[in-house]
Amino acid sequence: MKKIAVIFGTRPDTIKMAPIIQEIKKNSKHFELLTIATAQHRQMLDQVLQVFEIKPDYDLNIMKPKQTLASITKNTIEELDNVFSKEKPDMVLVQGDTTTTFVGSLAAFYRQIPVGHIEAGLRTNDKANPFPEEINRRLTSAITDLHFAPTETAKKALLKENIDPSAVFVTGNTVIDALKVSVKKNYRFSIMKLNKLISQKKRIVLLTMHRRENWGEPMQGACNAVKRLAEAYPDLNFVFPVHLNPIVRDVVFPTLGNIENVHLIEPLDYLDFVNLMAKSYLIITDSGGVQEEGPHFGIPILVLRKVTERPEAVKFGTVKLVGLDEGKIFSTAKKLLDNKDYYNKIASAVNPYGDGLSAKRTLQIIKNYFGLSKASVNEFIPKAGNKKAGRKISGNKK
Ligand code: UD1
Ligand code: UDP
Repeated sequence: MKKIAVIFGTRPDTIKMAPIIQEIKKNSKHFELLTIATAQHRQMLDQVLQVFEIKPDYDLNIMKPKQTLASITKNTIEELDNVFSKEKPDMVLVQGDTTTTFVGSLAAFYRQIPVGHIEAGLRTNDKANPFPEEINRRLTSAITDLHFAPTETAKKALLKENIDPSAVFVTGNTVIDALKVSVKKNYRFSIMKLNKLISQKKRIVLLTMHRRENWGEPMQGACNAVKRLAEAYPDLNFVFPVHLNPIVRDVVFPTLGNIENVHLIEPLDYLDFVNLMAKSYLIITDSGGVQEEGPHFGIPILVLRKVTERPEAVKFGTVKLVGLDEGKIFSTAKKLLDNKDYYNKIASAVNPYGDGLSAKRTLQIIKNYFGLSKASVNEFIPKAGNKKAGRKISGNKK
């Protein structure tokens, strides 16, 4: 038996770890599961834990209002060290590029425990964008023993950094594993307001924003663009589940709080969110995970970033990198809302991020690493069939 410690702490890393946790449970003949939540997020983490029925063995409960990067790091590292010293896991798994990810890998390294990194190799090569995630993931790669790259592009980025090729595997992204079991055709939302909005049959523009490098003026510009769009398109519903960070809320609520067709709501639980995404016409976001989920439905996404570490969907066409310029956000959204041919071209792209089998591949690779199996693993290759549903618009949807 090998003991696998799975570390998570925020909304996205927990969503993407959930399929891995489930797969470890399915392999209980070989693996003992140890789940450790840093709880860098609290309410937004608890929402995910509830949906995926995860009860962490350890909950470090470190979140503080308006916490700093240093405080997250300081409050996590010693606690993780104590758990590792007591539990002596055979491997530690971390996901993505949060501070929980980096500190989890560092604490494991200090105890000489092998590290597996889920979603390895994403790069912008710009240490200020996204901040601090670009550095979190590069530092994590330096420590990692098994690199689970979601795409071929991510694998190439790791090889360019002289990472041992025999330790890098293209698995696809577990975000698609989670999505595939969560989106239902006749889904009823737990929030009544959403059921009402959907029944209006108006086009929905879904919004999310939270990135640290966008705090302040850039986020203000993006909100101004949304305000202009909402005023120009009174027949559309804009739905914005607002991140709990008070720094984000201090910009969003004063700018968008009193517009009839802008619905500012609390963060949605994962099932409500992805099912709302499936019914949306356009997404405007600075999120990483949402950029990967949108292409699954063939929904055009405007990404509020200067650069993206997820170039695949930009190449395939579903994602448009619009930055934070108010005018560019407004004009690109307008073109998508007004021009059906332009919309259809974007909406018929392929999803390059996963096929729902990423966690399975990952666990097989871990079994092989420990000599528990010798089965070969087919790496993930994007295919046209990976996209669930096209969004071709023929009639006038206004
Ligand atoms: C963190 C991650 C970021 C990830 C994002 C996902 C780092 C440095 N940042 O950013 O990579 O994209 O999560 O959402 O790891 N808050 C609550 N309740 C919650 C969650 C947050 O009140 O459930 C508030 C708190 O005041 C907290 C603040 O939000 O101090 C910021 O949380 P933090 O984890 O530091 O940063 P995020 O911007 O959420
Ligand atoms: N998400 C959610 N509720 C929301 C908004 C997003 O469950 O109200 C999910 C979304 O489906 C995706 C993840 O949260 O899987 C993205 O998290 P976030 O944007 O906070 O972080 P990032 O991906 O940018 O690190």
